[in-house]
Amino acid sequence: MVVRPALPDEAATLADLAARTFPLACPPELPREAIEEFITEHLDVDAFRGYLNTDGYTVLASVRADGEVCAYALLVDGAAMDPACAHLLAGDPTIGISKFYVDQSLHGSGAARILLDAVIDHGRLADARSLWLATNVGNARARAFYTRSGFVERGTRIFTVGGLDNQDVVLELPL
Ligand SMILES: CC(C)(COP(=O)(O)OP(=O)(O)OC[C@H]1O[C@@H](n2cnc3c(N)ncnc32)[C@H](O)[C@@H]1OP(=O)(O)O)[C@@H](O)C(=O)NCCC(=O)NCCS
Repeated sequence: MVVRPALPDEAATLADLAARTFPLACPPELPREAIEEFITEHLDVDAFRGYLNTDGYTVLASVRADGEVCAYALLVDGAAMDPACAHLLAGDPTIGISKFYVDQSLHGSGAARILLDAVIDHGRLADARSLWLATNVGNARARAFYTRSGFVERGTRIFTVGGLDNQDVVLELPL
């Protein structure tokens, strides 16, 4: 598996992977309609075309030997992905990990670590002092992974999915 910047023509592939994996990070009580609304608004092909073509945004893709894109990370410079979290963060400059998603077939395989290592390399090359992200308070698997990887809790935030408010924990990894 290699991790590399996503290619300009990979918006549809990324949207497909994102639609498959976003529900995995949602709490079980969140209605399917709210999840679908978020996917349509923020994770469709046009949304990814925007991410791939906007300064301050970086998409990294994990690609298997057979060419399949099996994980991705969407990075956003600074606290722009949620300015309300800026006061919680210690690192300056920082980079936000807006999305970090591994195909379910590869959970527990080490693929997430390989992708995170590439995100860390990206952050160091950009002279960032930290990486930060937010994940649902009930997403125990992600929280365990991030904590084992050195992230520390900084607080909480509200994250709206399809008009419904959810509580996220904010985590930061000093670089
Ligand atoms: C979050 C994610 C990237 C982590 O990758 P992964 O390959 O699953 O991570 P790992 O298997 O290496 O580590 C998961 C940890 O959670 C533990 N775990 C697994 N299921 C769990 C559960 N239901 N409750 C609590 N802990 C759990 C594992 O034992 C492991 O713990 P350890 O670190 O003590 O060994 C991946 O699960 C994923 O893409 N999830 C769906 C999308 C998502 O939630 N993304 C994060 C949004 S910000």
